[in-house]
Amino acid sequence: MTLGPADTREPAEILSTGDRATWSVTAPSILTPRRRPPDRVAFGMVRTLFDRPRWLEPCHLYDERGSLLFEEICELPEYYTTRTEAAILEREAGTLMSLAPVECIVELGAGFSKKTVHLLKALSRARGRGTFAAVDVSATALMASRSMAEELFPELAFTGLEARFEDAITSITPDIPKLVVFLGSTIGNFTPTDMLHFFTHLCDHMGPEDYLLLGVDRIKEPEIIERAYNDSRGVTAAFILNAFTNVTRATGAGFRPEKITYRSSYSRARERVEMYGIATETHRVEFPRHSASFVWEKGEGILVETSRKFDPDDLQVLLRSFGLESLGHWTDPKRWFSLLLFRRTAPSGGMEPK
Ligand SMILES: C[S@@+](CC[C@H](N)C(=O)[O-])C[C@H]1O[C@@H](n2cnc3c(N)ncnc32)[C@H](O)[C@@H]1O
Repeated sequence: MTLGPADTREPAEILSTGDRATWSVTAPSILTPRRRPPDRVAFGMVRTLFDRPRWLEPCHLYDERGSLLFEEICELPEYYTTRTEAAILEREAGTLMSLAPVECIVELGAGFSKKTVHLLKALSRARGRGTFAAVDVSATALMASRSMAEELFPELAFTGLEARFEDAITSITPDIPKLVVFLGSTIGNFTPTDMLHFFTHLCDHMGPEDYLLLGVDRIKEPEIIERAYNDSRGVTAAFILNAFTNVTRATGAGFRPEKITYRSSYSRARERVEMYGIATETHRVEFPRHSASFVWEKGEGILVETSRKFDPDDLQVLLRSFGLESLGHWTDPKRWFSLLLFRRTAPSGGMEPK
């Protein structure tokens, strides 16, 4: 269905007028870009799998099962990040919304938006109305986010954008002052080069009255981090290995789950957790739709996700070069996680990735 002026006026208002026709409605209040080349996703997967070393983009983790497994990870005792960030948000939401006096919250990589409830509560209390736009590649996540918003915040207009970050950022209107929220240390999943591109693109599209709230996981004792990404119940392993099931479905590849195991390690040099699928025996993986195959050697890893840890002061310095002025920094008593608030000040300057 193409966006029409009558049926979808409210959800589409978050998009620039000129871009609205390029999005369509896929479910109530959920829009997706219309002109997606049909096999762009599959092609993206195959391309990185034939790179050396082989890797996958982290967004391929989030099919329906992946989104549900991630929610399970958030509840694990070892996975400190979600409850630590949630506690800071709960404590500081009122302050954050007074420093960012907007009526619109745009959440990138929203997931189920469980922690965002604290910000939406503060928005609703302070302004009595407003807009909440959730961006995510996962339809499952957006539907959960929409149910939450409709049940708890009927006074807020909800829009779900089922899209990759760059597509949503390009199309969201710069004319509505907004707080862009990027939680869960999802920026830690970017490579340094991707992070540079992400902030360049984001800042190029932020309006003069826009704010950015970033949640970042901090550098800490490696043992604490390693435990968080290798839980005793094996939920993280199932989450990472599910990427191969997703790739098999999307590309027709012949990945064999029984020949893949999970391994994670923390690199102190890169300050990041690296999460791999490892071949337990040498075997050939066929891609019949692409007339291609590769031999996956025993012990060879395919990098599925990285989770970089940050020094918040360094990050503030880096983001200043993109025209993001720091308005505040909040942390928890153990200093494990940080929330950073920025205001957009000047055009992006461009800087080499750290
Ligand atoms: C680490 S989870 C964080 C979820 C939630 N914000 C939280 O803090 O619990 C990352 C979320 O970003 C989404 N995501 C990952 N890569 C994406 C991309 N390139 N574009 C849009 N969404 C993406 C995933 O589907 C997932 O819901």
